[in-house]
Amino acid sequence: MERTFSRLMNKLETKGAADILKYASVPGVIPLSAGSPSQEAFPTKELAEIAAAVFREEAVTALQYNPTEGYPPLRAFLPGWLKEKYGVGGQGDALVLTSGAQQVMHLAAACLVDEGDTVLCEDPSFVGSINAFRATGANVVGIPMEDDGIDTDALEQALETQPRVRLLYTIPNFQNPTGITMSLEKRRKVYELARRHGVTVLEDNPYGDLRYEGEDLPAIKTFDTEGVVIYAGSFSKVIAPGLRVGYALADKALAEMMGQIKLCDDVHTAALSQMLCYRYLTQYDFEAHLGELRRLYAQRCAFAKKCFAKHLAPYGVTCAPAQGGLFLWLTLPHSIPMKDFCTAAVRDHQVAVVPGTTFTVDPDSPIQGFRVNFSAPSYEALEEGFVRLEACLRTFF
Ligand SMILES: Cc1ncc(COP(=O)(O)O)c(C=O)c1O
Repeated sequence: MERTFSRLMNKLETKGAADILKYASVPGVIPLSAGSPSQEAFPTKELAEIAAAVFREEAVTALQYNPTEGYPPLRAFLPGWLKEKYGVGGQGDALVLTSGAQQVMHLAAACLVDEGDTVLCEDPSFVGSINAFRATGANVVGIPMEDDGIDTDALEQALETQPRVRLLYTIPNFQNPTGITMSLEKRRKVYELARRHGVTVLEDNPYGDLRYEGEDLPAIKTFDTEGVVIYAGSFSKVIAPGLRVGYALADKALAEMMGQIKLCDDVHTAALSQMLCYRYLTQYDFEAHLGELRRLYAQRCAFAKKCFAKHLAPYGVTCAPAQGGLFLWLTLPHSIPMKDFCTAAVRDHQVAVVPGTTFTVDPDSPIQGFRVNFSAPSYEALEEGFVRLEACLRTFF
């Protein structure tokens, strides 16, 4: 049958995103491409105990339709927990439980952005979010990154010159893909600029708990007294991504609208997943679990940096300082065509990394960086992955 597809299908850059997941399962390929947590990081035993208890004690709630905004005990518990742990949220805010943080991007854009409106985001940035903004027909405009976060001068200029800016998307902690953390000064500036221009900030913080060096910095949401900021959180990187539980903390009217859109989307986030999260957070030692994760990933991060120093640094490749998160962001010397390198790496050397252009607003923009994941592969695979990257690199000299 001849079909006419929607204009949306031409706007999405799904190939790069799909490749990230695809290579994780191709036999023989070492996937340094996915953003997956380590399988050792999953609290499998605890979740099995909880699942058994849920089916003994609350099976009907787990299996029945649930409220769109979230499983009530989790929705009641999280605001106090978020306030105490991260200082975010206030009287004027409400919470919507979502199917991963990915859904927050879609709900926020659906509530606030019409076709032709402008969404500003860090460039490069998380491709899943960029696609969620593109899906609304928005004009997505990238703002360059600096070593301490988004270039606030360029941001100010964009706020002054771009038409109908509705949303500013940022990942302040261990940004995906660059690993960069926004300075405190810039966090305040971003808030002030957005407030002054009447633009909603969408602050995405899936990696904030995974800090291995330095001091935690306050979320932009902690400055928010006027309902400017939507704070997106996720249990994907700290419990398990397969559960698909995230949340949006936003001003009440906006949270209510996000719930209305969610109702049309998926009715509610899987109740069983929310129940697993609720009981895990309230009945087990979540802080101890986070401590374990930080230890596990700090070691892997240090190992990946050592492999980088041995195999790639001698060829002039540089590594951005990563104080947390799951990735290293590596930059090739200008003489090496980055996309060709990443293609040759997977095609000829069976090691998958993600070319920087996957994350840029303009897929043709000149960028020399590529992303390497260190959380999911074993130590052996990580080392072998760097050996193969070196072999690939040598063919370019
Ligand atoms: C910056 C960022 N935001 C959001 C997400 C989506 O996460 P979730 O699994 O909660 O949907 C990811 C996933 O990798 C991410 O890196």
